[in-house]
Amino acid sequence: MIKTIFITGADKGLGFSLAQRFLREGTRVFAGQHHPEGNLSDLAKSFPQAFTPIPLDVTQMDSVRLAASRVAELIPALDLLINNAAVMLETRTPLPELDMTRLPLLETLDVNTFGPLRMVQQFLPLLEKGDHKLILNVSSEAGSIADCPRESEFAYSMSKAALNMQSKILQNYLKPRGFKILAVHPGWMQTDMGGVGATIHPDEAADGIFKLAVKNWNPDDEIYMDYRGQPLPW
Ligand SMILES: NC(=O)c1ccc[n+]([C@@H]2O[C@H](COP(=O)([O-])OP(=O)(O)OC[C@H]3O[C@@H](n4cnc5c(N)ncnc54)[C@H](OP(=O)(O)O)[C@@H]3O)[C@@H](O)[C@H]2O)c1
Repeated sequence: MIKTIFITGADKGLGFSLAQRFLREGTRVFAGQHHPEGNLSDLAKSFPQAFTPIPLDVTQMDSVRLAASRVAELIPALDLLINNAAVMLETRTPLPELDMTRLPLLETLDVNTFGPLRMVQQFLPLLEKGDHKLILNVSSEAGSIADCPRESEFAYSMSKAALNMQSKILQNYLKPRGFKILAVHPGWMQTDMGGVGATIHPDEAADGIFKLAVKNWNPDDEIYMDYRGQPLPW
């Protein structure tokens, strides 16, 4: 049973839907809050005991460290970490127009790939004391090398392919300690990132991810899959 969970990037989109989904199940939810204003204060009012927003910028080591220590002051163990926060800073820019001197390329990797790794490093002591021992990285079909139709979106796609590799390395590293790592494509969602033309509401993705999260996984099971549990090619 999942009693405690931390979700990064919970201000909006999928992160917000995930927070609501787990709160409905009576889970104690810690929500990474990137900006102080926004929807999270309403959730805190509705669930004063079960919901705690925690300021968090996953690119800043001090911020990640402080978030982990704040959570450790409030609970003895964490059952599940969902690395959801991400950015998509360049959309279908053709290679000749891609500005190689600008930071967005590096920033994408910093948030989408190194952010989750910073989180795992700092939250591992709490996760080790948890009963469920699950780390769920929100990946993307864009991270699949085997099944890539794209001719652009370099930074985002590369950041998610690298997140997939990170998930595999973490699974190898943490298997002896009983951990399961998942890398989950949430579908094309109607969020600020996915746009209005997307096919599903983030609540649907959150429901699928909730069902995957509560399963009893074997460390040797699939790592990379969509939100319905369909395996994806690496
Ligand atoms: N939308 C899709 O169709 C789609 C498809 C495949 C995969 N995904 C993945 O699904 C996840 C959720 O996407 P979404 O559509 O919900 O995106 P979204 O609506 O853009 O939300 C992203 C969240 O991440 C936060 N964030 C950004 N930079 C951060 C940082 N440095 N530190 C902490 N938080 C940060 C954002 O906060 P601020 O807004 O305050 O900056 C926001 O709360 C992402 O991992 C994304 O790559 C999305």
